[in-house]
This record gives sequence, structure tokens and C-alpha cells, in this order.
Amino acid sequence: MDKTKKIPHHVGIIMDGNGRWANQRGKKRSYGHNAGSANVDRIVTHAFNSGVHALTLYAFSCENWARPKEEVDELMRLLEAYFKKFMKKVIKNKVRLNVIGDVSVLTPSLQKIIAEDVEKSKIYTDHVLNVAVNYGGRQEIVYAVKKLLADGKEVTMEGISENLYTAFCGEPDLIIRTAGELRTSNFLVYQGAYSELYFTDVLWPDFDEAELDKALDSYAGRIRRYGGLVK
Ligand code: IPE
Ligand code: IPE
Ligand code: MG
Repeated sequence: MDKTKKIPHHVGIIMDGNGRWANQRGKKRSYGHNAGSANVDRIVTHAFNSGVHALTLYAFSCENWARPKEEVDELMRLLEAYFKKFMKKVIKNKVRLNVIGDVSVLTPSLQKIIAEDVEKSKIYTDHVLNVAVNYGGRQEIVYAVKKLLADGKEVTMEGISENLYTAFCGEPDLIIRTAGELRTSNFLVYQGAYSELYFTDVLWPDFDEAELDKALDSYAGRIRRYGGLVK
């Protein structure tokens, strides 16, 4: 690890391109989702080994319910399989899991395993892994504002920030999107207002350690001005 390199504290990843990856191989979309799911741990491990503190992965958006039931079911099955194995892996990695989004509509078994992982991994402080499931950035803003109003508080920018799902790990410094689309598809809308963006044509199942290094190198060379001037 290059100690002099500027490393983002919090990175968000829009893991896109599983369907196209499968299509290129003449396979069904579920084949791509399986490959995409298998890619998660090598990137999580490499990000944390590179000095990233918090990682937010976009796994399933509020809008993804619009897909065929068969595909949604496969994505939910893969999420459940991932969370079932999570604690065994996390023990050596000391990662705190946080699932962001409205989990209340997920199946009871998925909600149960998520709740268990979140509770058991609370003791870890080295790294945070946020997995966005049934997540939407606009929905999150509405949730935060409603929370402020319910608490009898004034609606302010600070108040909204403090009530976002990711409040405890700060705003994402860098948001990566794989698979070539130049949009953020309702990901981290409020807290991503000043994030550096990195887009690559590489499809998620092919996004390996070297590709993450390219994104981190790109970030290291950025100048963040926040509307001001560089001194
Ligand atoms: C994975 O990629 C992202 C999820 C919504 C799970 P896609 O399934 O969107 O793949 P493409 O964009 O169709 O290639
Ligand atoms: C964004 O990808 C959502 C996730 C990666 C979970 P989509 O494939 O759903 O986004 P659009 O439809 O191309 O905007
Ligand atoms: Mg897509």
C-alpha cells in the first residue's frame, strides 16, 4: 500500500452490468448475477486492504422491483446466500455490516439473517460495509425529512444529513459505476452531492483488484474544490 496516496474514506459502488456479462456469453441473466455476487468479496477485501474505511454497495434499488419476478427472486436468493455466509468471513476482516434501504418489505427469512449479521458485526469498528437493498436516494431523503418532522425538529441540511442511513460513516468521497452507463440511478442522492465520480466500461463481474486500483488512482489525482478555489 502506498502510504502517500490520497485514499477515499468512503467509497460507493454501483455494481452494474451483470446482465450484459451473461448475455455476452449466451447465458441467462441469472448467470451474470451469480458471477456478480461472487465478485463482491474480492473487491470488499481489496478496498479495505487499500485503506478504504467504508464501502457502500448498491445491490438492489427500489426501482429494480420492476424486473421480471424470476430475476427479482434470483437476486433475493443471492442476497440471502451472501448474508448467510457473511459472519464467517467477517470474523477475519473485522467488518461491521449495515444494510441500508427499506428492508421491511423483504422476506422474513432475509430480514432475519440481515438483522442477525448487523447485530453480531456491531462490535467491529475497523471497516464498515453498507449494502443497499431496496434502496433509493430520493426515498432516503423523504425518510430523513419525515424523521425530523416526527421528532419535532426543524428541517435543515444538517438535520437531513444526520438522519440519512449512511450518517455514521460520512459522505462518499468516491462513487464508482461499472458497465458504462453515465448516471447514478438514484444512488446516494443527497450525500453524493460532492462525491467524485468514476465511470468504467468494465462490467461488474470483470471488475477486479486492478480495476479498483485504477479508480483509486483516479481519485488520488482529483482536486476537490467544493465551490471554492484551490490555494
Ligand atoms: C446488476 O447488473 C445490477 C443489479 C440491478 C443487480 P444489471 O442486472 O443491471 O445488468 P445489466 O445492466 O442489465 O447489464
Ligand atoms: C442500478 O443499476 C442499480 C444497482 C446496481 C443495484 P440498474 O441497472 O438498475 O440501473 P439503470 O436501470 O440502468 O439506471
Ligand atoms: Mg443495469
